[in-house]
Amino acid sequence: MKIAIVSGASRGIGNAIALRLASEGMKVVLCARDENLLNETVAKIGADESLAVAVDLRLPDSAAKVVDAAVAKFGTLDVLVNNAGATKRGDFESLTDDDFIDGFALKYFAAVRLTRAAWPHLKKQRGSIVNIVGAGGRTPGALFAIGGSVNAAVLSFTKAMSEKGIQDGVQVNAINPGPVRTARLAKRLESTTEGEFLRDERIARIGEPEDIAALVAFILSPNGRYMQGSLVDFDGGSTKTI
Ligand SMILES: NC(=O)c1ccc[n+]([C@@H]2O[C@H](COP(=O)([O-])OP(=O)(O)OC[C@H]3O[C@@H](n4cnc5c(N)ncnc54)[C@H](OP(=O)(O)O)[C@@H]3O)[C@@H](O)[C@H]2O)c1
Repeated sequence: MKIAIVSGASRGIGNAIALRLASEGMKVVLCARDENLLNETVAKIGADESLAVAVDLRLPDSAAKVVDAAVAKFGTLDVLVNNAGATKRGDFESLTDDDFIDGFALKYFAAVRLTRAAWPHLKKQRGSIVNIVGAGGRTPGALFAIGGSVNAAVLSFTKAMSEKGIQDGVQVNAINPGPVRTARLAKRLESTTEGEFLRDERIARIGEPEDIAALVAFILSPNGRYMQGSLVDFDGGSTKTI
């Protein structure tokens, strides 16, 4: 029986990952800020099989709280999925220092801190980390200066931890989704039709949160274990470079 933490599990991709891992028989610790939404998912999975930890992951002590709560309830930890992220889009001249700091505080530093707190347990269990990053990490864009920078940093961190993971027996990988149908994307689709969006983005289709969850499940399965340090573009063809 594996124990998994999923960050940003109240909605969107993180929620789909939490539900998928639970359906694979894992016990799941869900963290995000919205306690009500987290509890709704715990009610679906079952209170003995899951745990909600409501925290703002931008705060320095939140990551350790989540890992401590997971180990207190389930005794150990096998999987960490770093998914929480919410970087602001927009023209560079409209973005402030605080916008950049906020973007890094959540997606980069929460991933670093959760990894630090989880690592001794993952090392003991020969566990796994999957970082949900984004196509913007490889392909920067003018309206995505914060997200692209944060994602590139998380990809670099993934490679660094993957190398350490080879010594310590921890599997570390990242997935770069393209546009996925969540609340974040709904905002972008307000001003265009889906057909135009696909043409503008030059992608085959919009991804579903369950698509990303299925790849996470494969990486964590015995067949996925050879994957180490991979930064997987899973993006409908969004990434055009080699
Ligand atoms: N959707 C896409 O098209 C797409 C594409 C590429 C990459 N991604 C990446 O995939 C990840 C998930 O994206 P999504 O589209 O599923 O986003 P989403 O629907 O906006 O969900 C974001 C999740 O992060 C949590 N979160 C936000 N701020 C938080 C904070 N301060 N502390 C703790 N949790 C916080 C949210 O919960 P609360 O609000 O309850 O805290 C929510 O559970 C992100 O890292 C995003 O960059 C998404």
